[in-house]
Amino acid sequence: MKIMTYINEENLKILKDDIGEYRFNHSLEVAKEAETLANIYGVDKDLAKLAATFHDCGKWEDRDRAYKFIKLNGLKYSDEEMDNFQLLHAPFGADIARLKYGIDNREVLNAIKYHTTMIKDATMLEKIIYVADATEHTRKYEGVKELRELSYIDIDKAILKSLDETIISLTKHNKYIGTTTVDARNYFLKITKSNN
Ligand SMILES: [Fe+2]
Ligand SMILES: [Fe+2]
Repeated sequence: MKIMTYINEENLKILKDDIGEYRFNHSLEVAKEAETLANIYGVDKDLAKLAATFHDCGKWEDRDRAYKFIKLNGLKYSDEEMDNFQLLHAPFGADIARLKYGIDNREVLNAIKYHTTMIKDATMLEKIIYVADATEHTRKYEGVKELRELSYIDIDKAILKSLDETIISLTKHNKYIGTTTVDARNYFLKITKSNN
């Protein structure tokens, strides 16, 4: 697969217009970090770069336009996703990657789809995009450096830590937690335990 078919000047301009400069720059940083992780874990670097570059392609600044696009194209999401743009932008992004950028690689589309919630039995590409999103070098939250270093040594443990923190934070802020995330957390708990 030639990634230049997708990562080209025209598409990057569309991406930047849709998601804004801040998130566009974040996406380029995720791509760099995803390449680093792809090297460590033996994943195709082009696939990692492609999925990372477009992972937030559904996070349109203009949400009204996003909801209109969904209606116009007959796209279907769960009620929870429709009510929560933070949840919606990932599966919506997978559809945008397909419809707007012509990306048809299933692995790449799934890595975009699950980059927010994670999923049990995740592929290495899905793991890499999830982690790189959390640990790219412009991220500033407490513990990010430790999480990044852990991801180079044991990506499953890094994902478990990140999922635990996400679940704690969502609970604290009285927010909805999708069952996909809970199932993913229990899955990573199990596989990191059995690895020890
Ligand atoms: Fe995202
Ligand atoms: Fe992101």
